[in-house]
Amino acid sequence: MKVLLVNGSPHRKGCTWTALNEAAKTLNEEGIETEIFWIGIKPLAGCIACKTCAKKGRCVFDDTVNEFLDIAKDADGFIFGSPVHYASATGAMTSFMDRVFYTNMQAGRQVFSLKPAAAVVSARRAGTTATFDQLNKYFTISEMPVISSRYWNMVHGAAPEDVEKDLEGLQTVRILARNMAFFLKCKEAGLRAGVKLPMQEKTVFTNFIRD
Ligand SMILES: Cc1cc2nc3c(=O)[nH]c(=O)nc-3n(C[C@H](O)[C@H](O)[C@H](O)COP(=O)(O)O)c2cc1C
Repeated sequence: MKVLLVNGSPHRKGCTWTALNEAAKTLNEEGIETEIFWIGIKPLAGCIACKTCAKKGRCVFDDTVNEFLDIAKDADGFIFGSPVHYASATGAMTSFMDRVFYTNMQAGRQVFSLKPAAAVVSARRAGTTATFDQLNKYFTISEMPVISSRYWNMVHGAAPEDVEKDLEGLQTVRILARNMAFFLKCKEAGLRAGVKLPMQEKTVFTNFIRD
């Protein structure tokens, strides 16, 4: 079993990575394979609503979004990390998430359904819960069971050394990782015992427009 951890920070090994690495180490201790995927620092366009993904199953911009979707197909769980920029996920991470999740939806929802997910956020001081809420919304529109911890998943610091001192934040991340490992093992055991995945309904799509 494998968990993909996404580092949405412009820093390859900054505060967000420090939190994700703590989760990865804990998952490894639980026998779960991990990979930390960095979205990088090249400009990431937002979704241009062209719907190329509905026809081709890939985003029209061939960058880390498609690269991520290619490896995400084989992952069993996800942790998405972002630093807080102006009380939200970073602009690049928001563009990345919009395009990853929209492409997946338009291409037939193959990548994320019923795979556990969690968000981890990193901030110097404030905006953490707003960012946490923002990221969780991608999961709950995608049939992803959200794994929780003993606090909202956040670490504090302006540099990795600060995060190392945020003992409560790091403990929250470790508890989250153990809970995700437990869920993954239960899911695998259930499927092996013959529990069926839920029946899929054809999508009903109504707008708030009435004749
Ligand atoms: C453009 C920008 C906006 C930021 N906005 C906030 C903010 O709203 N609240 C906060 O506490 N920290 C803010 N910060 C600080 C970062 O969130 C914080 O240092 C974070 O831990 C950095 O994580 P990283 O090393 O993974 O990039 C901001 C930093 C930048 C560059």
